[in-house]
Amino acid sequence: MIWVGLLILSVAGAVVYWLFFLSEGAYLGRRVVIALYDWGASSYDRVKNVQPHDDAAYLARPLVAALKEEHCPLVLDVATGTGRLPLTLLRQWDFQGRVVALDLSKRMLAIARHKTHARRHRVGWIREDAMALPFRNNCFHAVTCIEALEFLPWPWEALAEMVRVLRPGGHLLISNRVGIDALLLPGRAYRPEALTEKLRALGLAKVRPQRWQVHYDLIAAQKPVQNGPTVHARD
Ligand SMILES: C[S@@+](CC[C@H](N)C(=O)[O-])C[C@H]1O[C@@H](n2cnc3c(N)ncnc32)[C@H](O)[C@@H]1O
Repeated sequence: MIWVGLLILSVAGAVVYWLFFLSEGAYLGRRVVIALYDWGASSYDRVKNVQPHDDAAYLARPLVAALKEEHCPLVLDVATGTGRLPLTLLRQWDFQGRVVALDLSKRMLAIARHKTHARRHRVGWIREDAMALPFRNNCFHAVTCIEALEFLPWPWEALAEMVRVLRPGGHLLISNRVGIDALLLPGRAYRPEALTEKLRALGLAKVRPQRWQVHYDLIAAQKPVQNGPTVHARD
């Protein structure tokens, strides 16, 4: 009998570990996700240990190249966390634009704001839900969402929102969870072909998946000047 009890306890422990740590609350609703990020905000950068030169090479430089024709591009970073994307982009000498950084976690945003204080005139911080972006259609030259899509309640709908606020001709840069991690996030991580297909169905062109880290691919795409029919306007 004791073995049955131990087995039940182990299974329950594994499920709790998966729900709260491996999938970071993704299946428990946005309140839990945000509470976990608020709770872990102060240690996020130390645990992540992102390398500035890698972020510059893989995130900032491709964006700067894509936006080189724009005089003062406006970039939206969805689920910005502690400001990784704004920081690397604003550090590029040839990026003259501005960044709107959106997240629902108050504490993650507070750290992001602190880290970009010196560049505060070129960045705006906004505490809102990625599922209902508070912007008009077609207003950003680029929209990014890095290491976050899998934590949003409905990733497909979140992508449609990002495409909605992207200007015709604008650039999307997102990440997708791959490898063993992807198996632990059913319905939140996608086969590269499925994601490519989905982005095309949202009206995007030039969809280019690229290997990035052990646990993530990067996917770049562009909204054609003539947008496809599947993205629904909200205004
Ligand atoms: C793994 S972090 C990624 C942060 C940053 N993009 C990076 O690459 O370091 C995921 C972020 O998504 C945010 N997030 C989760 N659900 C959200 C939602 N519904 N709306 C806005 N932000 C959300 C969390 O607060 C957290 O800051």
